Amino acid sequence: MMGSTFRRAGAALGGLLMALTALPAGAVDWASIPAKQVPLLYPGQASWEWALSKDEHSAAPKFREGKNCKSCHTKEEEQIGKALASGQRLEKKPLPGKRGSVPLEVKFANDGQKLYVRLEWPEVTGAGGPKLDKDYAARVTMMMDDGKVVEFTRAGCWSICHDDVNGMASSVEGKDTHKYLARSRAKLSRQGGGDSQKPQEALDAMFAEGQFIEYWQARLKPGAPAVAADGVALNKRQDNAKPAVTVEAKQVGGKWVVEMSRPLKVADPAHKELAAGKTYTVGFAVHEDFAAGRYHQVSLEYTLVLDAGEADFVAVKK
Ligand code: HEC
Repeated sequence: MMGSTFRRAGAALGGLLMALTALPAGAVDWASIPAKQVPLLYPGQASWEWALSKDEHSAAPKFREGKNCKSCHTKEEEQIGKALASGQRLEKKPLPGKRGSVPLEVKFANDGQKLYVRLEWPEVTGAGGPKLDKDYAARVTMMMDDGKVVEFTRAGCWSICHDDVNGMASSVEGKDTHKYLARSRAKLSRQGGGDSQKPQEALDAMFAEGQFIEYWQARLKPGAPAVAADGVALNKRQDNAKPAVTVEAKQVGGKWVVEMSRPLKVADPAHKELAAGKTYTVGFAVHEDFAAGRYHQVSLEYTLVLDAGEADFVAVKK
């Protein structure tokens, strides 16, 4: 009698603990987690190919030798972003009022079941540029890789930003080229990969090995619930039909505050397995004030670990 009562009580307590450890979205105690400032910069038409051309970017040989973008450019984001957003360099059609840099504040957490990220930035509206995105006032994106794509470890967002992608300097009128990884193409010139996409079997094999970039996105409209999207970039950037990511967003005192999360394990191959003990690389982008395409601000590459370890971000266990 006594024993079964205790067992029942034990089971109930176990259930309660389970309920407490699986935090509902929006229930992370963010105030207890320190924020990290991630300055985003306006990248203009500075593509992967541009960055690797030594005649144009004097550091190209150093990058090829093994120095990552962030190791040289950290703390220069505002300065570079300003030069590019104003059209001084690497931007043929600057937009009026486009700022060179966005101060993004980033926090991570995990609860053993999900990874959570909280992104906050002061919004700009009505800067005077055209409304390139007809649907959303702003979008925020996080891209990530688990070390399978070395060019993302080295250069973050730039690994999928090629010279012939829509809106970039070598894009071809009438061609719809989405962001891709160099490894999806048979050859690469200063103008990008062009039509040299590898055969489908080769792309399928790379995908099966996890050689792709995963992204999470929140699409934002004042007064409406945020819309979640996620997807992959390999031979092109493609949304998943049904996102595993959930998002919540609010506007507080002139700032967007966005939370995104997804289960650490998702039973489809389009999501990387997230686990303690591995190092991930993440990059962030904000499309503000109805911006689209290259008219965004992006981060350099940052490292992330879960629970504990050496990285730019530790998604502490809550
Ligand atoms: C070894 C240090 C170093 C590395 C690594 C490096 N850069 Fe640079 N970068 C420079 C220097 C120096 C400049 C100044 C202009 C020049 O010399 O070309 C520069 C300029 C730039 C500019 C501004 C262009 C301009 O005309 O003002 C951008 C954008 C840029 N780098 C992006 C990148 C990206 C993306 C990567 C990684 C793929 C990268 N850099 C890696 C040193 C570096």
